[in-house]
Amino acid sequence: MSRVNSKFGLCLHAASRKLSARTRQPYLWLGRLVACGLWLMACGQGTVKDTKFQQYYVQGQQLYIKNCSNCHQKNGSGLGLVYPPINNSDFMDQNVDAVFCIMKYGKEGEMIVNGKKFNKPMKGIASLTELEIAEIATYIYNTWDHQEGMIEIARVTTELNKCDN
Ligand code: HEC
Repeated sequence: MSRVNSKFGLCLHAASRKLSARTRQPYLWLGRLVACGLWLMACGQGTVKDTKFQQYYVQGQQLYIKNCSNCHQKNGSGLGLVYPPINNSDFMDQNVDAVFCIMKYGKEGEMIVNGKKFNKPMKGIASLTELEIAEIATYIYNTWDHQEGMIEIARVTTELNKCDN
């Protein structure tokens, strides 16, 4: 026990000697401080980004269940040839931006999803805000077969301005 203690003491002693040697090199310390600060900033930003993603995802899931799941189902499977699937959809993969318009303004006319024909109008949900659309999109595009990453509001805003409706 005492040997461990004395080893520890030696170690502390060595560390403090090193420390005092280093305090004599202020520029080195300044450099380290800046590097450390930059590293912390980078880390902090990563965390903020992750938190934002989590928030959008969780909100998006709630909104999806409330607004979409009665047709597309909770598990996104859709329903036969009436409601197209969104858990695995080549249409969604190829038309990320058009999906924002579909949510807000609806869609009618024939469409083909994974080789199957669907043709029943979907009513848009006009009351959805741009934030809500970004949240739902972040949820549906990062669940099941999709890994699209965060969908930002700015992207939704830009695309909604281009919808045909
Ligand atoms: C009342 C039923 C209903 C609701 C509610 C509904 N949809 Fe749809 N959705 C449809 C139908 C029907 C189509 C096919 C439209 C067509 O045939 O032109 C469709 C098409 C789609 C498509 C494109 C086709 C595909 O499967 O990739 C997406 C994406 C989609 N809906 C997402 C949503 C989202 C997200 C919500 C909630 C914000 C939602 N829908 C709410 C019925 C609905």
